[in-house]
Amino acid sequence: MAIQWFPGHMNKARKDVAERLKDIDVVIELLDARLPASSANPMLARMAKGKPRLMILNKQDLADPAVTEQWLAWYRAKTQTEALGMDAGERAPAQRLIAACRALAPNRSGLEKPLRVLICGIPNVGKSTLINSMSSRKIAKTGNMPGVTKNEQRIILEDDFELYDTPGMLWPKIEVEEGGYNLAASGAVGRNAMDEEEVALELLKYLLVHYRADLAARYKLDEETLEGMQDWQALELIGKRRGAVLSGGRINMQKAAEIVLTDFRDGQTGRITLERPDEWAVWEKRAKAI
Ligand code: G4P
Repeated sequence: MAIQWFPGHMNKARKDVAERLKDIDVVIELLDARLPASSANPMLARMAKGKPRLMILNKQDLADPAVTEQWLAWYRAKTQTEALGMDAGERAPAQRLIAACRALAPNRSGLEKPLRVLICGIPNVGKSTLINSMSSRKIAKTGNMPGVTKNEQRIILEDDFELYDTPGMLWPKIEVEEGGYNLAASGAVGRNAMDEEEVALELLKYLLVHYRADLAARYKLDEETLEGMQDWQALELIGKRRGAVLSGGRINMQKAAEIVLTDFRDGQTGRITLERPDEWAVWEKRAKAI
């Protein structure tokens, strides 16, 4: 595996989230629409059991729309949880979430019983962006209130509607190898914690199968040339195309990997999703069998 994790942080986050959840009425879990399963936190699902939840597939503008539909249908069917695609920067759909949360906990309203909503998700998935889009007036940070830990944010959106940001860093436990690579490809993992060349090769392996036309268009390559090509050959070709060449004509694979990863993260390669429900089921089964 190309990624190094820090389980110590996870234990601290688990404790903080468990403590916070005691007072929470509705949980909004943000997933990355390009990697919904890898960016989910099964631990959170267990901890929030019994509480109404909304799953948001965020960054849908970067994801493959057809696969996002597959995932939304999958979540609704398998988890009986309301699931929505979103672009967290857009205000109108974000603000409609307030009504959606209210509908999930109709017994909570008024100053005596404010509705308390927790926004969860891995770093960089778009939590702050969503919180900002949901708020139509000045955000109140009340980090030093009694009962509210220092690094935690409570945001009062309406008099009887409070939003809480995830306390600490909430990381999924990586059990499925492909999930680790997908998280790394998405940019959720710091550069120091992964081997970029290895991650770019895994990304290319997937793109060569599912998004060959996008790859060909992005790098002005012939789609037929890409057919049957190995990931490292594609990386070399892209490096050559983009001038990532060392003295003596050798390809600078590290530079080529950075190009491939940056283009994917910025949506320049196209609208791409790195996992589908049926694929994920196979990967998960294999991981459990090991
Ligand atoms: P976090 O609080 O969960 O850590 O995530 P945050 O909101 O800071 O978002 C992380 C990055 O993802 C930001 O980009 C943000 O703009 C981007 N982002 C959030 N939601 C969406 C979305 O729905 N679609 C797209 N395309 N991007 C989204 P950044 O480059 O780190 O910062 P910025 O300069 O763009 O603000």
